[in-house]
Amino acid sequence: MTTKTDLLYEGKAKSVYETDNDDLVIVEFRDDMTAGDGARKETMTGKGYYNSIITSKIFEVLEAHGIKTQFVELTKPGTLVVKKLDMIPLEVIVRNIATGSLVRTFPFEDKTPLDPPIIQTDYKSDEFHDPAINDSISIALGLVTQDDLDFIRKTTMKINDIMRDMFLDAGITLVDFKIEFGKDKEGNIILGDEISPDSCRLWDVETQDMLDKELFRKGQDDKVIDAYEEVFNRLLNDDDKAKWNL
Ligand code: C5P
Repeated sequence: MTTKTDLLYEGKAKSVYETDNDDLVIVEFRDDMTAGDGARKETMTGKGYYNSIITSKIFEVLEAHGIKTQFVELTKPGTLVVKKLDMIPLEVIVRNIATGSLVRTFPFEDKTPLDPPIIQTDYKSDEFHDPAINDSISIALGLVTQDDLDFIRKTTMKINDIMRDMFLDAGITLVDFKIEFGKDKEGNIILGDEISPDSCRLWDVETQDMLDKELFRKGQDDKVIDAYEEVFNRLLNDDDKAKWNL
């Protein structure tokens, strides 16, 4: 068993702890929900439970398709053991349908399908408010090399293909999402952080109802947890639930 020791990092929705194993950290998914660069903060009871399990399920499926992730184990709902990574401070955003900041920033019509998908990167920094960043700035800042960026882009497109199919099988359209990568001790680039309704836009295929954090951004707080539960129920099969004692 991996035992947590010192608090390493406290993010907006997760806390990361050192463990008795140098190569592993424990991530606790909290029920805190923020929007507008942290301007609004609420507690959504059950969010940590659903997001930790949904992340575990997606990372397992990605691993089965040959994508290296930091996931090791869901020890109990809300708590993951993951490989310790040196996180690259880039938010890699993939868009299959134009909406959100893309239609606010550029002259795309809302809900336009994007084929091929768009990939964007933001610099992850509270101090600088996550500005858009390009390859030359990322390299000049020493965050990554061109080879790293090429690998990240290729891997991200694969992740999008796998996740799109996975969600479609659950009757959900994967509109867009954000992922983050880190490097392990050997310098391999590994998918890290979380993939959950906090970091994806998910629409019901039939009704186009939102099943993600956008409900919170739009002030429909009462619908948030039901939507996350719906994603959980559609993605997890009976074997998953039995395996994780859910
Ligand atoms: O707001 P925007 O349209 O740029 O968001 C694109 C996608 O990236 C959405 O799925 C959103 O949930 C995700 N995102 C995120 N964390 C951020 C910024 C965006 O998970 N800091």
